[in-house]
Amino acid sequence: MPKLGVNIDHVATLRQARREHDPDPVAAALIAAKSGANTIVCHLREDRRHIQDKDVIQLKKKLTKPLNFEMALNAGIIKFAARIKPKYCMFVPEKRTEITTEGGLDIVKYFRRVKTATAQLAKKGIIVSVFVDPVKKQIDAAIKAGARIIELHTGPYANAKTKVGKQKQLAKIKRMAQYAKTKGLIVHAGHGLKYRDVKPVARIKEIDELNIGHSIVARSITVGMAKAVREMKRLVK
Ligand code: PXP
Repeated sequence: MPKLGVNIDHVATLRQARREHDPDPVAAALIAAKSGANTIVCHLREDRRHIQDKDVIQLKKKLTKPLNFEMALNAGIIKFAARIKPKYCMFVPEKRTEITTEGGLDIVKYFRRVKTATAQLAKKGIIVSVFVDPVKKQIDAAIKAGARIIELHTGPYANAKTKVGKQKQLAKIKRMAQYAKTKGLIVHAGHGLKYRDVKPVARIKEIDELNIGHSIVARSITVGMAKAVREMKRLVK
């Protein structure tokens, strides 16, 4: 059974809509950890659209479960990570106009930068992961760059519109998870996974951890709404 990494970015998205204090992503992370999350994931974007620097500092201070800190190949953020020292750091591509991460990091293209950044963090004892499309040459490049973990991009699987399309994407993830394992890597997978489509991915025995964010945060609002309204109603009375 794979471990579950819970990404709490979108708790911060809701907070940033008002730029006040609630909902607090750190409080949400502590609840997630208490409820079975094996790791907590957060992405400090260059534009700081959701998670803020202070959130990462607080997460590192208060969490008893490992923090997986996601970032672009940004010199300032890499330096910040080296100072904070989360257990894991994950490199992802970033585009200013994207709604969410759109694809794996092209390790072949950015090989030198990935290798240098990986060495910089590994020197601090941080385990480095890279987010890649399920493609052999990207996995080979990740190994050469010194990454110990790859996270396979499950977005195309989650977004496939037909059963055949989904099966094709799932087979690709499975093949590349098996390949990465034979190369000695730790294998994570994630992005876009929903309650309705997570099971086939979770059954791939080579996958050590799934990282899921949006669908869990979205569902927490639905399942928590009744209690929240009852509490307010009591006060109004
Ligand atoms: N993995 C990576 C590399 C991501 O960038 C994200 C989104 O921040 C996730 C997993 C989680 O994706 P989702 O929020 O769609 O579950």
